[in-house]
Parts: sequence; C-alpha cells; structure tokens
Amino acid sequence: ILSAAKIRAVSTMANEEECPGNIKRQLAKIFEISLRETVPSESDEEPLVAACGGKFGDYQCNNAMGLFKKIKGKNTAFKSPNSVGQAIANNLPQSEMVESCSVAGPGFVNVVLSKAWLAKSIQKMLIDGIQTWAPKLSIKRAVVDFSSPNIAKEMHVGHLRSTIIGDSLARMLEFSNVEVLRRNHVGDWGTQFGMLIEFLFEEFPKWEDENDVPIQDLEKFYKQSKKRFDEDPAFKEKAQQAVVSLQGGEAKYRKAWTKICEVSRNEFQKVYQRLGVQLEEKGESFYNPYIPRVLEALDNKGLVEESEGARVIFVEGRNIPLIVVKRDGGYNYASTDLAALWYRLNEENAEWMIYVTDVGQHEHFEMVFDAGKRAGWLPSDDNTYPKATHVGFGLVLGDDGKRFRTRSSEVVRLVDLLDEAKNRGKAALIARGKEEVWTNEELEQTAEAVSYGAVKYADLKNNRLTNYTFNFDQMLNDRGNTAVYLLYAHARICSIIRKSGKDVEELKKVGEIALDHSDERALALHLLQFSEVVEEAGANLLPNVLCEYLYNLSECFTKFYTNCPVVGSSQETSRLLLCEATALVMRKCFHLLGITPVYKI
Ligand code: ARG
Repeated sequence: ILSAAKIRAVSTMANEEECPGNIKRQLAKIFEISLRETVPSESDEEPLVAACGGKFGDYQCNNAMGLFKKIKGKNTAFKSPNSVGQAIANNLPQSEMVESCSVAGPGFVNVVLSKAWLAKSIQKMLIDGIQTWAPKLSIKRAVVDFSSPNIAKEMHVGHLRSTIIGDSLARMLEFSNVEVLRRNHVGDWGTQFGMLIEFLFEEFPKWEDENDVPIQDLEKFYKQSKKRFDEDPAFKEKAQQAVVSLQGGEAKYRKAWTKICEVSRNEFQKVYQRLGVQLEEKGESFYNPYIPRVLEALDNKGLVEESEGARVIFVEGRNIPLIVVKRDGGYNYASTDLAALWYRLNEENAEWMIYVTDVGQHEHFEMVFDAGKRAGWLPSDDNTYPKATHVGFGLVLGDDGKRFRTRSSEVVRLVDLLDEAKNRGKAALIARGKEEVWTNEELEQTAEAVSYGAVKYADLKNNRLTNYTFNFDQMLNDRGNTAVYLLYAHARICSIIRKSGKDVEELKKVGEIALDHSDERALALHLLQFSEVVEEAGANLLPNVLCEYLYNLSECFTKFYTNCPVVGSSQETSRLLLCEATALVMRKCFHLLGITPVYKI
C-alpha cells in the first residue's frame, strides 16, 4: 500500500512534464506535498523554494520559520521552527531529482540535487531541443508597445532603449509560446502636422511628384517649420487651419501627411533592419476614429467630468486628473492611449499589454491604467489578467554624466551611432588579422553581429530603471561583461567541438553525460537553471536577469574548461556534450536578447 504522500507524488509526476527544465517548479511540487503532510491545517501555504548555491545544498525550502509562526500556540506538536523543517525534510516524497536533504539553522531545508538527474535532464534537452525548457505562461496573446518614435523627429537614444528592451521582452514572451503583437505606436497625429504640411506646401511646391523625395533631412525640416511657426503669425494661422483640414480628411492634406509619414517610416526602418527588430506600426492616427466611442462609453459609466473647460477623468490617489478632451475640444496623448487600451483588450484580445518608454511617462500610464480599472476594463488586482504594465527605463548618459549628446550637443542620430559601433567593431577584427583569413562578407557580418550585439548588451545588462553611460570602448571590449566577450566565448566552444572531429548529433544519441568533476556538476546545474531564469526575467520584465545568467554561464564554462580536459580525454564524449549544451543555452540567451551569435573568431 502506498502512503498518501507517495500516491500524490506519483500523480505529480505527470505534471512535472509541464516544465521539465524548471528545477524550482519541480522542487516546489514535491515540497508542496511535504508541506500538506507536515502541517495539514495550513493547506494554502505556498512552497518557498530558492536556489542557494551554498555549501549545504543547491536549493532551499524556506517555509519552516513562517509555518511555525502560524501554528505556534495552536494545537501542535512542533516545538521549534527547526522541528518543522525536520518534518518537512522527512515528509519529502521520494524523487529522482533529490540526492539528499538536510536541515540547517532555524529550519532551512537544503536539497542537494542528484548528479544522475542533472545529467539525464541535460541529455534529454539535447535530444528534445531547448524549446522544451521554455517557461509556460497562462496567457495566449500579449501586446508589446515599444520603440514608438515620433514622425518627423529623429529617433533618439531613448527610442533606441525602448527598441532594444521591448524587442527582448517580446522575444522572451514568444519563447514562452505567447503570441506577441509587436506594436510601434508612432506619434503620427497631432497639431505639429499642421505646421509640417503647410511648410511642405510652401517650400516644396512640387512635393506631389512621386519620383522626388521632398524631405531629405526630416529633423531639419521639423526645426525649420517650427521656427516659421514660432516667428510668423500668418504662417501659424495657416498651420492651424491645416490641422483642421487634415483632421477633416481633406484629400490634399491627407496626402501630404502620408508623404511625411512615409519619409519618417523609411528612416525608422533602417534602424530596425540593422538591429533585426520586427515591429508592426499602428500609430496614434490609427486609434483616432475609436476615441469618440471609447470616451462615450467612459462617459456613460459616469467617469468623465468637466474641469476648467476640459473633459477629464479623476483617478484615485491623484490630485491631477487625466485630461481626455482638451479645452479646444481636441484629443490628446491620453485619449489616444485610452482608445488603444480599449482596442487591444477588445479587438485584439490581448491579455497582457506592455508599454516600454522612459520612466518619465510612468505617471501617464498609471493614470491611463487606473482609468481602465475604474471603467472595469482591467481588474483592480494587478496579479490577474488582463493586465497592463508600464516598463520604464532610465536615461542614456554621455561620459560627462549628462544626457547623451553629440559634441555639438545635438541629439545623436541612431544610424550614426550604429555606424560608429560597426566601424569600431570592424577595425578590431581587422586588427586581429581577420581581413586576411575571412571573406569580405564574413568580416561584415561578424562586425555587425559583434557591434550591434555590443550596443544591445550594454543596454540590457543594466537594470533598466537605472541610467547608464554610453561608452564605445567599454561595450566593445573583448574582456569583461560585454557581448564581445560572450560572443567570443561561444565561438570558442564551437571551435572546441569542431576541432574534436566528432559528430555531435551522433554523440547526443549514444553518448552519456557524467558529472564527476565538481566543475562539471556546477556547469550542469547552471545550465539547468536557464528555464527558471528566463521565467523570472520574463515575469519581472527584466532582461538584465538573463544577461547576468549568461555572463555567469560563460564563467562556469571557463572554469570547467580550465580544469577538465575535453578533446582526447577519457571523458571526451560526456564533456563534448556539456560543451554542446552550453553553446545551445548561450545561443538561446543571445536570441532572447536579440543578439546574433557568431561561430568563429
Ligand atoms: N511616441 C512616444 C514618445 O516618443 C511613445 C509612445 C509610447 N506608447 C504609447 N502607447 N503611448 O515618447
């Protein structure tokens, strides 16, 4: 006869298949069984399992102390938190994952994972693919609203951050089998278009000629028209009239607007293409027709009030309301975002809406989301879907500690910045003698992978909320925590495998991994932590968590490779498989960070 715990253990085995690569979740499952057995009265106690990496074990269950507090004084045989810990350890069902279990201090239950299980799990991933290590999410569709520059203005480093961070978040969700609508919410609507259109008419009378791109330098065009607008009252008058004509849908104005947007769009596209970022544009103008309906619905719920001539929505805990119709009757950024939120929820059926902008817009989004909650579109509890999340980020600073600018204190053009990164990256490869041994194409591709990767990684490795200093020398250094170092580390692993002359695909089928050396075991454990790290990075929308994991992985590998000979050793097969698994996990990390891997250096 099986004891109750054992029966439940058997039934959870099937569930383990849900996330075979996720140590933490699998351990949590068996600890949950033990917790129910140990203290049946606290049946909703969630298992608290964390990696610890100390000398006592690999993982720790930390429930004993809290549980003891809850049951103390009630009818219980337990005398101390430690005795609760002992019981949790004793009641832990048999599992092939666990080698041993011990209790330390006030009741920490430490688990040493089984080497055989670690080895087997990695072998399984090598055969079934790393997709089997993807975290599972309970949602099907998400919107990631990122990049979102403004038409007729240059994309600046803030938009670069949004593009890089947003792309990485989208990739993590996609890896977790979530369908991601990658939205470019470009600023393509608003009063500035009146002045731009009027200026286009005046300065480029032949603007309708299809073969002639009228506006080469949009930034200059924007500045000049702004100057006219500010200095020339007659022009200003016409510009204001132009807005009315545009919004009224007059053909000529629509056409001019389309033209201006097109020029901008082509410029943005150059940056996206270089960075390998996919986006689908649904700009502010797209939501414009929805605004009246959405505001009417909000009004019907009694949410819209009159305030100093404007129409506003008050949200709890804030003195200033969200203005949704300006005093002149026009709509604004907030009305557009309300319509977009409505659209994403109701037309696109997205369950998670993620907005990636600088922290300066945090309040705006909080107010829009709060209005959505008041309207009953979003649950008031932030832990349930559908939910909307603002992902803020800090500034990019120059070496002088001030906002990143060019020497003439202009906004840095992103194409120029990427050009410079690439030139520097290429020069470094040439200095390593690669021009002689590689084809020109190889040189170009590697230079791009390394330098754009470096720009992305330098951004992503910081906690996004902090400001970071943009420094080419640092990000392109081949030592330290940089993409260059990591890409080279990956290429080196590939070259170890190549030089062995062995067919890894064959080895995967017949070979076995043994983890006898402590550095082999440490590497294997780190590899297996990939899944829970991606889950954490995704859940908290923090790509830096994944960067840190990747950097540590490469350190684990270096240690392993320094102390464990691979090619020609008696453990060659096992160690080549560890090399292959490391390369695979590294590549998946690169992929999730939007970095293109290189295979040789
Ligand atoms: N265009 C805005 C800017 O450059 C960002 C838009 C962000 N997305 C949104 N739904 N408001 O600051």
